[in-house]
Amino acid sequence: MGFLSDALSRIKPSATIVITQKARDLKAQGRDVISLSVGEPDFDTPDNIKEAAIAAIRRGETKYTPVSGIVPLREAISRKFKRENGLDYKPSQTIVSTGGKHVIYNALLATLNPGDEVIIPAPYWVSYPEMVVLCGGKPVFVDCTMEHSFKLQPEPLERAITPKTKWIILNSPSNPTGAAYSRAEMKAITDVLMRHPHVWVLTDDMYEHLTYGDFEFVTPAQVEPNLYERTLTMNGVSKAYAMTGWRIGYAGGPQHLINAMDFVQGQQTSGTSAISQWAAVEALDGPQDHLPRFRKAFEERRDLVVSMLNQSKYLKCPMPEGAFYVYPSCAEAIGKTAPSGKVLATDEDFVSELLEAEGVAAVHGSSFGLGPNFRISYATSNAALEDACNRIQRFCGSLR
Ligand SMILES: Cc1ncc(COP(=O)(O)O)c(C=O)c1O
Repeated sequence: MGFLSDALSRIKPSATIVITQKARDLKAQGRDVISLSVGEPDFDTPDNIKEAAIAAIRRGETKYTPVSGIVPLREAISRKFKRENGLDYKPSQTIVSTGGKHVIYNALLATLNPGDEVIIPAPYWVSYPEMVVLCGGKPVFVDCTMEHSFKLQPEPLERAITPKTKWIILNSPSNPTGAAYSRAEMKAITDVLMRHPHVWVLTDDMYEHLTYGDFEFVTPAQVEPNLYERTLTMNGVSKAYAMTGWRIGYAGGPQHLINAMDFVQGQQTSGTSAISQWAAVEALDGPQDHLPRFRKAFEERRDLVVSMLNQSKYLKCPMPEGAFYVYPSCAEAIGKTAPSGKVLATDEDFVSELLEAEGVAAVHGSSFGLGPNFRISYATSNAALEDACNRIQRFCGSLR
């Protein structure tokens, strides 16, 4: 009998973390590497939020908190849902966990039985299928092609639903594509879900505040209020408030689901850091004036990257509505030979030869469930992005 659990053999390491580590190792060896693989803003946490955390420490807010979070934060979350999404969640209908990732994990752990199916539109955030598998469920993928701007279409969704479907996970704006659903596109999806009352909706709204131009963000229970009773609306402060390291995610949902998640969390972490929770109260209730600044910087970078990638031989890069990722196709580069002599058979070969030849770290699309593409995170300086895109153009130009 082996020491490690069988569950461990069913999951894969995160490709994003693997590639980011490889880039770090190459840098440590003295190579000039630009890493476009990490999914976190390069901005610092706004000062008012840091000050709120320091004040909390000074007040002695350094003890265990209620499992689902401190009351002031759950009240702030309740206000946020009302103010920004038109959703009524009482503070008792909210839960705070150790990052958005932990919210999703708790929801799946609290609800999945062996064989339960979870529909995951592909390309997907790398952690969804692995979390489903760890919780004993079965991921069911629905391809969302570039032709449809990487967005789920109603007919394939309808075909994927079975009597065993427990959840669908929606993520708009999306990691890895940046694609975000308009109200009409979301309505087309919620119309299908209305015909299948046994399917629950887990919406990952982590990138809500990072949309560009005049795009209007919407969330499923807002577009279709009749879904409220079977929707978990998940969000967090990691991306929009540059707080990835503080580890705060939250959700609003039906009381019985939140109670079940609280039950699970009580035997896992006992709740997240008290200090981070006080910082999150300030993030949600305090001034939001950093947001237009973040959005403007990201929008400029998106435009720069999309334009430079589309000038590159063999690449096609759609213009995404949000997040800080682009997801170009490298289909035309497949079958070509890299400077090392290697023939590029997959998108994984493409990114690994790109890293080898030009020191640019990106993540292959097949790890997000749809390729041949690759993901670039543009949460880095304009100068680094311009340099990286020039190197990508040079690499593509060198393929024979
Ligand atoms: C779509 C999506 N959901 C959730 C998360 C996790 O957020 P957190 O860092 O708050 O756990 C990420 C982080 O990369 C993400 O991209």
